[in-house]
Amino acid sequence: MSINYAEKIPNNVDLANDRTLQRALEHWQPHFLEWWHEMGPSDFEKADVYLRTATSVDAQGWASYGAVKMPDYRWGIFLADQTPGRTIGFGDRMGEPVWQQVPGEHRSTLRRLIVTQGDTEPASVEQQRLLGHLCPSLYDLRNLFQINVEEGRHLWAMVYLLHAYFGRDGREEAEELLARHSGDADKPRILTTFNEPISDWLSLYCFTYFTDRDGKYQLKSFAESAFDPLSRTCRFMLTEEAHHMFVGETGIGRVVKRTLEVMKELGSDDPVKIRAHGAVDLPLLQKYLNFWCSSSLDLFGSEISSNAATSFASGLKGRPDESQYQDHVLRDVVLKLDTPEGAQDVPMLNALNEVMRESYLKDCEIGLKRWNRAIERAGHDFRLTLPSSRFRRAIGSWVGLPVDPTGKLLPKQEYERRLHEWIPSNDDRAFVRSLMQKVTEPGKMAAWIAPPDRGINNLPLDYEYVHVA
Ligand SMILES: [Fe+2]
Ligand SMILES: [Fe+2]
Repeated sequence: MSINYAEKIPNNVDLANDRTLQRALEHWQPHFLEWWHEMGPSDFEKADVYLRTATSVDAQGWASYGAVKMPDYRWGIFLADQTPGRTIGFGDRMGEPVWQQVPGEHRSTLRRLIVTQGDTEPASVEQQRLLGHLCPSLYDLRNLFQINVEEGRHLWAMVYLLHAYFGRDGREEAEELLARHSGDADKPRILTTFNEPISDWLSLYCFTYFTDRDGKYQLKSFAESAFDPLSRTCRFMLTEEAHHMFVGETGIGRVVKRTLEVMKELGSDDPVKIRAHGAVDLPLLQKYLNFWCSSSLDLFGSEISSNAATSFASGLKGRPDESQYQDHVLRDVVLKLDTPEGAQDVPMLNALNEVMRESYLKDCEIGLKRWNRAIERAGHDFRLTLPSSRFRRAIGSWVGLPVDPTGKLLPKQEYERRLHEWIPSNDDRAFVRSLMQKVTEPGKMAAWIAPPDRGINNLPLDYEYVHVA
C-alpha cells in the first residue's frame, strides 16, 4: 500500500479506517513534537536540511530528497508489504501461519521487547542533541540530522505497535517512551549504552558503527518474528538503518585517511606529534573502538539466557537471517561456551544471545578490514582490532572480570592501572573535544577528518546541505 501523505499522520496502514487508533495516535503526536523540540537537535529548528523522506516502502525510489525544516519532517507509520501466506520460520510452532494479533500468553513478553527496542530510538537522538554545534562539515551535519529524524520515526514505528496491539498498557508505555531520558538520574533510558554521553563526533561515528549495528541485528531478529506487524515494521526500519551504519563506517574511514596524511606529512607515527598537528592518532582511535564496541556487546544480553530460549521457541524473536540456518527448532543441539570456569556445553536455545553476538562481531570486522587495508597501503604496521567479547562485560558470565582487550585475565590491580591504555582517559576525551571546531562553510572540512568520496544523492560536496536561516 502506498504512503498517504494527505493525512495528519502519514501512513500506509489505512489509519483513516480505524478512528479510535487514529485519535489515540493524534493525541500522542503533539507530545512527540514537544519532546523533539525539547530533546531533539538543539538550535537547528529553523534550518533547512537536505533530507530524504520515505515515499513508498518498496526498494525502488522510496526516498525523496529536499530541503526540510526538521520539526516539519513527515514522521509516520510505514510497514513493509505483507507477504501472502507467510508462516512461522522457527521455534516450536514453525510452519503455522504468522499472527496478525498478539496471542494472550505472549502479550507481556512482546510488549517488553517492543518497549526496549523503542526506548533506544529517542535515546540516541537525546545523546546526539548537542553535536550540531561541533560539526566537522555541512555534509556531516546533514547526515547527523538525517539519522536523528529517522530514529524519531523508528520511535513512531514502535509506538504504532504499542497503540494498535497492546491497548491501554501500550498507550501508557508510549507516554513513558517520551518521559525517560538518556543519562537522566531519575528516569534513565533502559539500556546502559543509551545513557552514555556522545559529546564528540569520533564517538558519534563509533556509536553509529557499533551501536546502530546492534540495532540492525535486533531488527533483523524481529523481522523473523511470528508477530507479523512487528516483522513488517522492522523490515522497513532496516532500510533506513543502513544509512546510519554507512555514516559510522565512512566517518571512521575518513578519520583514518586524514591521520595517515598527517603521518606522511610529519614523517612520524608519534602520537604526540600527530595530536599536536590536530589529528587523531591511531592508538587513540583504537581506544574509542574498544569503548563503543564493548559497550554495544552488552546489548546482546547474557551468554546463557532463558529469556532468549523462550523468545525463540515461542516464535517471538528469531536469529538474524534465520533462513540461512539448517535447524530452526534447536531442541537437540548444544553449543560449547567459554566461561571463566572453563568450556561448558549449553543448550543452543539458551545460547542464542551469544550466537547473535558472534554474527554481529563478524559484521563488525568488515569495516576494520577496510580501514586496515588503508593503513597497510600507507606502509604502517599498526592494525586496528576489535576487543575480545570478554573485555569490560557488564552482563553475563564475564561480568566485572579484569580481562584485557585480547581476552586475557589479569590481576585486578594491573587491570585497573592499565584500563586507560585501552579505553579513552579524561585527557584523551578532552583532546578529542578540543578538535571539535564547528565548520559550516559549504565544502570545507575540519582538519581532523578527510572529505567523503562523494556528496549526498549525487550532489557536489560543496552543496549547502544545511542552510542555517
Ligand atoms: Fe533506529
Ligand atoms: Fe539507527
